[in-house]
Amino acid sequence: VAQEKIPEVEALLSKMTLEEKIGQLNLLTPGGGIATGSVVSENVEAKIKAGQVGGLFGVSGPEKVRQAQEIAIKNSRLKIPLLIGSDIIHGYKTTYPIPLGVASSWNMELIENAAKMAAKEATADGINWNFSPMVDISRDARWGRISEGSGEDAFLGSAIAKAMVRGYQGKDLSDAYTMMATVKHLALYGAVEAGRDYNSVDMSKVKMYNQYLPPYQAAVDAGVGSAMTSFNDIDGIPATGNKWLITDLLRKQWGFKGFVVSDYTSVNEMTAHGLGDLQAVSAQALNAGLDMDMVGEGFLTTLKKSVEEGKVTEEAITIACRRILTAKHQLGLFDDPYKYSDTSRPKKDILTVENRTAARKIATQSFVLLKNENNVLPLKKDAKIALVGPLANDKNNMLGTWAPTGDPQLSIPVLEGLKNVAPKAKITYAKGANITNDTELAKRANVFGLRVDIDKRTPETMLAEALKNSENADVIVAVVGEASEFAGEAASRTEISIPQSQKKLINALAETGKPVVLVLFSGRPLTISHEFNLPVSILQVWNPGIEAGNAIADVLFGDYNPSGKLTASWPRNVGQIPIYHSMKNTGRPAPTHQFEKFKSNYLDSEISPLFPFGYGLSYTTFEYSSIAVDKKKITQNEGVNVSFSVKNTGNYDGEEVVQLYLKDEVRSITPPKRQLKGFKKVFLKKGETKTVTITLSADDLKFYNSELEFVSEPGKFMVFVGGNSNAELSAEFELE
Ligand code: IFM
Repeated sequence: VAQEKIPEVEALLSKMTLEEKIGQLNLLTPGGGIATGSVVSENVEAKIKAGQVGGLFGVSGPEKVRQAQEIAIKNSRLKIPLLIGSDIIHGYKTTYPIPLGVASSWNMELIENAAKMAAKEATADGINWNFSPMVDISRDARWGRISEGSGEDAFLGSAIAKAMVRGYQGKDLSDAYTMMATVKHLALYGAVEAGRDYNSVDMSKVKMYNQYLPPYQAAVDAGVGSAMTSFNDIDGIPATGNKWLITDLLRKQWGFKGFVVSDYTSVNEMTAHGLGDLQAVSAQALNAGLDMDMVGEGFLTTLKKSVEEGKVTEEAITIACRRILTAKHQLGLFDDPYKYSDTSRPKKDILTVENRTAARKIATQSFVLLKNENNVLPLKKDAKIALVGPLANDKNNMLGTWAPTGDPQLSIPVLEGLKNVAPKAKITYAKGANITNDTELAKRANVFGLRVDIDKRTPETMLAEALKNSENADVIVAVVGEASEFAGEAASRTEISIPQSQKKLINALAETGKPVVLVLFSGRPLTISHEFNLPVSILQVWNPGIEAGNAIADVLFGDYNPSGKLTASWPRNVGQIPIYHSMKNTGRPAPTHQFEKFKSNYLDSEISPLFPFGYGLSYTTFEYSSIAVDKKKITQNEGVNVSFSVKNTGNYDGEEVVQLYLKDEVRSITPPKRQLKGFKKVFLKKGETKTVTITLSADDLKFYNSELEFVSEPGKFMVFVGGNSNAELSAEFELE
């Protein structure tokens, strides 16, 4: 694919030796970052001087970044500045909720601004290249990295991908307040078999194109500067060495003009996948279209030999090098390699009051009210509250997974947040249980300096203390759920329920007969059928980030009325996985809540999820009515406007995420039961009614057919509008 030729880059390329070009394809980490594999980079300084490094990650701070750039500028022959990368997945030092939580806000403006704020903080600290957004669709809550993405849906995931790229990159990449984004992990990483991290993926092309690829393409359409390959194989070929994926799809079909980086040692890992020795897999990756090799140095150590042996061409290396130099040019690094090394910026731009306030707002919008038993929420600010639970006063687990740039010690635990927001409340605290009593699980989840501590006291003593603590309370608030590192990379689980130690506590609290509110932490959908059936209220808060406690208190006391909606279905049990709202009808559809023999259902479980995609309650209630489409018949290139009324029928002002689902009644490949095709977040004062219009474009009616053509086909379409994916208010139109 022809790459734009920039005179400055061409002039540089003409001076470069083969070794220097290969050097630009090498991405290292000097160990200041977080190693997510067994290999770590060595002799980094000497390699930079020798022109053997194109970029670094795990280096931050304007002085350190200046030092690194100086090594390249003052000591290497061609003085080429370095890309400085980082994983800024949910905020830089001002950590936001995990991405699955941020997605639950369904607020694209908020998401774009969050990315913009992360870019401002990160660039102040020397970073010019971010390994985000992670846009992998996942319908498998066992997979720990479901926490890092936007959930199960390609339409919503695409909107979020675009908002994040816009936020990180802004309008001008050479602006010192913006950074280059990376869409990852190309591709299908969220569909690893059995939810086990790094596992294989095998999927039909029709499914990929319709349900998994759109968010990556959306990021490309938004102008993302780089893309990262995934660890899994696709059609038997690891993504990192997959020519169909990197060259045919990404570059030729989608028109991607940026550069492609591998994941951490994923070039080397092609050997373990069974594709040959390091020289063979490195040559395969380069020939597939990969430009940069993260950490494993397969490119650095073997490509020259492969050129000599005719296994790769120097031209292929020049093309990859051109792409990396072009990125450096776009970032303005050739004009000023020290533009991200302004020592006055961290103080002005990082962890400011403004940023923390924004993080608190993002967190409040990410929470999902799953159940409000007897409308016990919101709480009174002068209530007697028994605060219990292992996550109630634990700074280690507020930020969530993949927050390596954040400092857990700066986070606000729930106890502190409740006191801040309701100083008149009488709050007593007892831990009540460990996050887990399983020492092996606790040990495995103790990574990156985050601990899952097991108390020395016996579980019985802790429980007794919690019950005593609750005796005089008006309400019990139990902060329970997963530790940060129960989710994330290499943190897949086969059981996704609340750990046993905490289940015992919850059961005992429910038995007291007092109102109980569960504040539930998790990096994934959990199976909580048992807890849902107890007389308790449940507020899902994910891992809320640096302002955790304050944001939780804002919502518990009603300063913010919850508006989050789930972006991944919550299964009743692990056996239902994968489960998602856009499943197909099958030839033998079963009734939703009733068993029928010889229909597509289970002997031992309902088929519906416990909470459907799009679900989330508010302290108020909303009523939908008067749906209408502006045209009953349309032609191929026309769209449709769908209008309906939403009324706030409850006692509080509030926001509602109104959702529109489309059903294609008849088509050449089996259609999903329904698919999200539009949404808006609407604020309604108590008693207020608004008319909402959502436009379906001609493209919204299209899908990839069995020839992989993007088409719409004549016939009847149904639209459903409402507050979750079970929306019932419907209208229909016909495509002629
Ligand atoms: O960006 C990450 C990726 O998501 C997982 N492996 C390591 C990379 C760099 O830290």
